Amino acid sequence: MLTLQLSDFSVEEFLAHYWQKKPVLIRQGFPGFYDLIRPDELAGLACEPQIESRVIYRQDGVWQAETGPFESYGRFGKKDWTLVVQAVDHWSPDVADLVQAFSFIPKWRLDDVMISYAATGGGVGPHIDLYDVFICQGSGRRHWRVGDRGNHHQFAAHPALLHTAPFEAIIDAELTAGDILYIPPGFPHEGICLEHSMSFSVGFRSKSARDMLSGLADYLIDHDVGTALISDAGRPLHTKQGHINQSDLALVKAQMQSILDDEQVMADFVGTFLSKTKCELDLQVIEDDEEITPEALLDMLHNGELRRTGGLRCFYLDQTVDQGVCYVDGERYAFGAAARDAVIALCDHDIVDAVILEKGLHLAAFVDALVDWVNQGYWYAE
Ligand code: SIN
Ligand code: CO
Repeated sequence: MLTLQLSDFSVEEFLAHYWQKKPVLIRQGFPGFYDLIRPDELAGLACEPQIESRVIYRQDGVWQAETGPFESYGRFGKKDWTLVVQAVDHWSPDVADLVQAFSFIPKWRLDDVMISYAATGGGVGPHIDLYDVFICQGSGRRHWRVGDRGNHHQFAAHPALLHTAPFEAIIDAELTAGDILYIPPGFPHEGICLEHSMSFSVGFRSKSARDMLSGLADYLIDHDVGTALISDAGRPLHTKQGHINQSDLALVKAQMQSILDDEQVMADFVGTFLSKTKCELDLQVIEDDEEITPEALLDMLHNGELRRTGGLRCFYLDQTVDQGVCYVDGERYAFGAAARDAVIALCDHDIVDAVILEKGLHLAAFVDALVDWVNQGYWYAE
C-alpha cells in the first residue's frame, strides 16, 4: 500500500493552506514510486469500448483529439502525443489502491484516477480544470508549469480541447517518479513530456447546485416524494392579478425549503445520488450455477478477504446510519440498528474480512446482501 510522505507540512496543514486554495509541488511524496500499470496495459484498456480514452496530438502545429477505443497507436508516431484513460481505478486494483493514499479526502469527493502515457514532447496543452488533482509522476519525466488563478482567456484549440492563453508560471518544475503536483480548480497548467512518461492523476470533483437540484428532482419523482401542493388558506386580499408578491414567493420557497429541511429525505437522496458511479464498473458477475451461499460467504470472510471492485461507491450518513442504512452504487440498503458498525466498516474499507465486519455477520439481512453483492460482482474474493 502506498503511503503519502509529506516532508514540508502535515496533512492538516495541507488541508488548511493548499486544498482548494493553491497548488503545491510535493517532492518525493511517494518515494520509490513505480508505474501501477504498464504503458502497454494502459494502451490495452484504451482498446475497450466501455473505457473512456483519448489521444491528443499536434499535426502541423494544429491540436488534434481522438476518442477511443483505439485499435493501434503506430500512426501517432514516436513523439508529441498523449494517451489519456479515465477511471483506471475501476479496472486495476493497484490503481484503485492509490486513492487510499489520499484518504484524508472523503470518497464522495473523488472523481476518478486518470492515467496518461505521453511520448516525448506530448502534452494535452495549457488548460484549466474544474477539479482538484494530485498528479503523481510515474516513469519518465514531465515538465509542469502552473499559473495563478485569474481571468484567463479560454478558447477551443480543437472542438474537444478547451485551452487557455499563455500564462506566467508560479510553479515551474520537472517531475520525476514519486513527485506529486497538487493543483486546485481554476489554476492554468500545462505538462510537457521530456521523455516518455506515465502520470497518475487522482482527481476530486465537487457538484454544482444545478447538479444537486436536478438529481433531487429526479429522486423526488422516482420516490413519489414532495407531491403536496402549496397551501394558501387564509391568504390576504390580493389587488394586482398579475403580481407574484413577496409573501407568495416566500410560500413557494418555503415549500421547496421543507424538502431540504427533511433530514431523512435529504440523507437518502444525497446517499443514493453520490454513490452512483459515472463510469462503468468492472463487475465480476458470478455465473448462476456457481453463485455463492451465505455459508460460502462466511467461509470466504473467515479464511480470506473481500475486495470492493474499483470505483464502487458506498456511503453512510449520520442521519440514517443508526438504522443500519448504507448507500451502494445508487441504491439504499437498510439492515437495522444492529448493523450500524458493520455498515460503517463496509463503507470505510476497500478490503474487508470477518474481523472488520464482525458485528454484521450474525445478521441474516446483512449477510444476504453481501452474498448478493458478491454474486453480482460488487465485491470479490482476493
Ligand atoms: C496529463 O496527465 O497529461 C494531463 C493531466 C492534467 O493536466 O490534468
Ligand atoms: Co489538467
